[in-house]
Amino acid sequence: MLFTWLQTVLTGRDAQRDARVDWDAKYGTDTDSSVELDGLTIRQDSRRYGERYQASDPRVLADSLKYIGLDPRGHRFVDLGCGKGRMLIVAAELGFSSCVGVEFADELARAARRNVAASGFRTISIVHGDAGNYAFRDEPFVLYLFNPFSAPIMQRVRDNLLKLKRADYTVIYKNARERRLFDEMPTLRYRGSPPPHRGLWGTHVWVPRR
Ligand SMILES: C[S@@+](CC[C@H](N)C(=O)[O-])C[C@H]1O[C@@H](n2cnc3c(N)ncnc32)[C@H](O)[C@@H]1O
Repeated sequence: MLFTWLQTVLTGRDAQRDARVDWDAKYGTDTDSSVELDGLTIRQDSRRYGERYQASDPRVLADSLKYIGLDPRGHRFVDLGCGKGRMLIVAAELGFSSCVGVEFADELARAARRNVAASGFRTISIVHGDAGNYAFRDEPFVLYLFNPFSAPIMQRVRDNLLKLKRADYTVIYKNARERRLFDEMPTLRYRGSPPPHRGLWGTHVWVPRR
């Protein structure tokens, strides 16, 4: 951390940002720049609970899976609030059998479709709509969340998870501002925070309680 900060100060370059932009160069995608929701076309009332678009560090997913020893093959990957679709492509690369992203902003859903097409992965689909309405399937899956929305929508997501007959899901939640909801779920057990993604804005993981 200190080294990265010193490097940024001394060289004027942000190494973490460089790594993210390099990731885009690999597939010819455009996922890096942040977007405020104010100027976007969002038809859902839930827009007031939504957080701006900001892309995840692509390494978060592999580090989280390694931390809990989860083999993504045979699992679906679900990113609620997928933005421009970066983590869907990362998940497809890692071997998830299918990947779905839900995004409510028209412009971001379109960008996600463009990026997914550029990546060439055919296992990814984008749902243009409200994450609070997403009906999970009774199959093994990983739910990925990067601070997408506040409690009213997260409560609906939690209620939709609790409708499932099989609790065969893992939750990976970055910048987990509503983590209390998952801590309280009878179907989940808090597993911890994978290194090096610890700290205030870090990543937290819950696994099925067996
Ligand atoms: C912090 S970004 C995360 C982007 C992506 N998941 C990633 O990790 O790279 C949060 C995203 O959630 C979307 N969002 C917020 N509320 C939503 C809702 N109710 N339904 C669908 N998308 C939503 C925003 O438009 C934004 O793109």
